[in-house]
Amino acid sequence: MATGSNKSVLVLPGDGIGPEVMGEVLRVAEWFADRRAVRLDVTEDLVGGCCYDAHGVAVQDKTMLKATQVDAVLFGAVGGPKWDAAPREQRPEAGLLRLRKDLDLFANLRPAIVLDALVDASTLKAEVVRGLDLLILRELTAGVYFGTPRGRADLPDGTRRVIDTQSYTEEEIVRVVRVGFELARKRKNRLHSAEKSNVMETGVFWREIAGRIARDEFPDVEFHHILADNCAMQLVRNPKQFDVIVTDNLFGDILSDEAAMMTGSLGMLPSASLGPVDPKTGKRNALYEPVHGSAPDIAGQGKANPLAMLLSFAMMLRYSFDLPEDANLVDRAAQDVLNDGFRTGDIMQPGMTPISTAEMGTKLIAALDRLNG
Ligand code: IPM
Ligand code: MG
Repeated sequence: MATGSNKSVLVLPGDGIGPEVMGEVLRVAEWFADRRAVRLDVTEDLVGGCCYDAHGVAVQDKTMLKATQVDAVLFGAVGGPKWDAAPREQRPEAGLLRLRKDLDLFANLRPAIVLDALVDASTLKAEVVRGLDLLILRELTAGVYFGTPRGRADLPDGTRRVIDTQSYTEEEIVRVVRVGFELARKRKNRLHSAEKSNVMETGVFWREIAGRIARDEFPDVEFHHILADNCAMQLVRNPKQFDVIVTDNLFGDILSDEAAMMTGSLGMLPSASLGPVDPKTGKRNALYEPVHGSAPDIAGQGKANPLAMLLSFAMMLRYSFDLPEDANLVDRAAQDVLNDGFRTGDIMQPGMTPISTAEMGTKLIAALDRLNG
């Protein structure tokens, strides 16, 4: 049940463990071409610190152009201490932020699912996380990440001051909150909107708009306002009360790391970043990346867990290529490998079999073969 026509994918492995985990994705993509006729035209390019080393910029203009032309971007990870001294506009992270901003990838979906096989890998009690399936929807193109003015200034008395700006337009809030409601409708029909309306103007505005959309457009969806700090607390107290949480860029960054850890490891969490649908072509820009970073401390040692990257590939099949059956195959293969007791170091538990990054890819492909019959 796969596509006949080729889909174009820009692959940006990046730094640290990025190339290792992306390598496993390329193997799995080959399996899909051979066995499921999912043919991808893959172009590979540099982003992050490796691009800075080669070209003096975190991402090249030609790569940006390519990213707007392809059907989807697969992104590994960027950054590392090697580039601590790079100018801020060319730090590895700047490449990722430019991709998010220029492609208008405002809706960042970060699902946190606790698989039965990994219940005991979580630092929380098994009964708190068993069966957990929540989705953080993070606004990704505005807020304090991009607000101006920003920067340092010298004060007349010789001391210094520094500014970041949290800013949201009405439309920036409206569009991401709507996506939150639409996602909730396809899940357990419950949405929490997290902000700091007790302290911040942006929080008050966010709350007003979310409340209005709830009343006017989605009266059928169970809806709650929640303060972001309380949300952080409730996530560890009773995470299963949540279905979808919609929140701004900065709170989403923090809450998604917290949610990720419920699942046992950051190495398990995929994400999808989606732009608006072009009304003329029906196309939307999309970038898929693991939530984890470049982990320079374990890079190049075959220790990284490729599952978050592989599950991001599955999200691409689901959201950009409308291939739910193929996406499900990857999800189920990942579960089978874990059920069979295979673990990378980040999710290792007593009695399980430790394996490397590449072995995880091999096991996953073997599981795909079995599932595909
Ligand atoms: C994330 C990361 C990024 C962010 C960094 C690498 C810029 O932490 O995707 O969550 O802060 O958004
Ligand atoms: Mg983060």
